[in-house]
Amino acid sequence: MKLITFEGIEGVGKSTQINLVLDWLKTKGFSTKLLREPGSTIFGEKIRELLLSKDSNISAHTELLLMFAARSEMIKEHLMDSREDFILCDRYFHASIAYQGYGRKLSLDLINLLINSVNCPIPDLTIIYDLDVKAGFKRKTNDVIDRIESSGINFFEDVRKGYQQLAKERSEVEIVDASESIECISQQTKLLVERLI
Ligand code: TMP
Repeated sequence: MKLITFEGIEGVGKSTQINLVLDWLKTKGFSTKLLREPGSTIFGEKIRELLLSKDSNISAHTELLLMFAARSEMIKEHLMDSREDFILCDRYFHASIAYQGYGRKLSLDLINLLINSVNCPIPDLTIIYDLDVKAGFKRKTNDVIDRIESSGINFFEDVRKGYQQLAKERSEVEIVDASESIECISQQTKLLVERLI
């Protein structure tokens, strides 16, 4: 099984790219599974609702720990002993480093400790779609803004810097310029995925 995860701030076009690569892998005859974080299990989807609800007045630590509670269930249910050729996951632990670490300013050591303690498998490939924060939000004008999306421009500037830093530091991470056309981004995405085939 190859695990590919997709990351980026709001409005980078992550979902579009995931669906394009998923269809492409299916037409090549590979078995695939699509997951999202937080979520992908019954328990994880309940946690997702809590995390994204504007009624949840929670601390940054609670936010981080809930992300890992959902993640732990997803790993147990979907990643351990998986028989799929490819698992594609819409966000994973890199999001905790970018959002809770760089965005909320929680300890990166604590986050790395959680990553190790929960035994998070390291993805074979993590693609970060990089885009100017304001350009990302402009693309999302029709959507209802959730609790995390309401965190402000400065927060998302820090999250973006976190993702850029991850691309420098971690060997599984590749960064793709999300200001290009959908077709061009898809082409680059497929070239990266092709290396795993
Ligand atoms: P999305 O997957 O629909 O973009 O929504 C998930 C939100 O949760 C998004 O704002 C990013 C955020 N998030 C974190 O803050 N930390 C995490 O570890 C994960 C997986 C997501």
